[in-house]
Amino acid sequence: METRILEIDDGALALAADIIRGGCQVAFPTETVYGLGANAFDSAAVDSIFRIKGRPNDNPLIVHVHKDYDLSRLVRDVPDYAVKLAKAYLPGPLTMVYKSLGVVSPAVSCGLDTLAVRIPSHEGAQRFLRYLDLPVAAPSANISKHVSPTSAEHVYADLQGRIPLILDGGRCAGGIESTVLDCTGDTPTILREGLITREMIAAVAGSCSVYTLKEGEAARSPGMKYRHYTPDCGAVLYAKENLFGALERYDGELSRGGNPVIMCDNVTAEKTGDRSCLNLGSSPAEIAASLYAALREGERKFGFIIAVEPVFEGGEMDGVMNRLTKACGSKI
Ligand code: TXA
Ligand code: MG
Repeated sequence: METRILEIDDGALALAADIIRGGCQVAFPTETVYGLGANAFDSAAVDSIFRIKGRPNDNPLIVHVHKDYDLSRLVRDVPDYAVKLAKAYLPGPLTMVYKSLGVVSPAVSCGLDTLAVRIPSHEGAQRFLRYLDLPVAAPSANISKHVSPTSAEHVYADLQGRIPLILDGGRCAGGIESTVLDCTGDTPTILREGLITREMIAAVAGSCSVYTLKEGEAARSPGMKYRHYTPDCGAVLYAKENLFGALERYDGELSRGGNPVIMCDNVTAEKTGDRSCLNLGSSPAEIAASLYAALREGERKFGFIIAVEPVFEGGEMDGVMNRLTKACGSKI
C-alpha cells in the first residue's frame, strides 16, 4: 500500500473522511503526538489499529472528538469537577476517563466499562474531527513500544506501507502524550502524567492524586504495565547528580569502538565538552517538545543513547521523567 503524506486542506480532509468512513485508518496531528485514527463505531476498523501497530489487545484506546461534540452521546456520570476541568483545560492535552454508554465499539476500551475521551487543541486535528463529526479512536501513530511520533516523517518511518494517509500538521508543539485522568471517582486520579500537571488539576478540582502501579495489582490504565517509547538502540539514564558517571560511560563506549551520544538539557550540554550531544533545550516545555525527536535522531545516527536527567523539577517535568524512564530504564 502506498502511504501518502498530505498537508491539511479541503481536498486532504475529504480524502481522509472517505478513508475513515470506508473502514480504514488515517494518521493525524495533535498538539501532543500524532494519532492513528479509525471510526470508533466500526469494530473491524478499530481492531485493525491494534494489528497495524502490533499493540497488545488489552491496552484501550482514546476517542478523539471536536470541541462541540456532545459528550453525553458517549459517556455518563460526568462529575462536577470534570465539568470544571473541561472548562479550564479543553481543548487541550487532557484525556478524561468516564463511565461509557457503550455506544462505541467495545474494541476501543478493550471491554472495559469506561471510555477515555480527548478533545485536542491542534487546529488541524479539530478540522479533521469536525469534518468527520465522528468519535475517532486513536493511539499514538507509532509501532507499539517504539518512540511516539511528533512529525509526519516519524509516522512515515514507522507505518509506511501499512496505512494509506498521513495528514501533515507539522511538528507537535507539546511533544509528550496527553495527561490521562480517571474521572470515575469522587476525586480525579492521574493515570498517565502529561503537560496538564497534577498541580494544574488540583488547582481547579480541589485535589488530585497520581496513580502508581503496585506489584501484583491489575493496572487501572493497562498501558502503564508495558515498556514504551523505546529507541531501537541501547539507552541509559543518568541522574543529574551523576553527570561525571555519564561522561565516563560515554568515553568508555567510545574507546570500545561504540557510537554513543549524550542526550541532555542545554545547561548540561555546556558541560559535555566535544562529545556528541542531543540538546533537548533550555526549558521544561522545550524539553518535552524535543524529547521524542531526539530519541529518534539518537537511534538513527548513533548506537547508544546516554540520557542525563534534566535540571528542572516538578510540573511538566513529571511527565517528561515518566517517558525518559520508560525509554531508558531507571536512573543510574
Ligand atoms: O496525547 C495522546 O493522548 C495521544 C494522541 C494521539 O491523542 N494518544 C495516545 O494514545 O497517547 P495511546 O494509545 O498511545 O495511549 C492511551 C493511554 C494508554 O495508556 C491507555 O492504557 C490509556 O490511555 N487508556 C485508554 N482508555 C482507557 C480507559 N478506558 N481507562 C484507563 N486508561 C485508558
Ligand atoms: Mg502510545
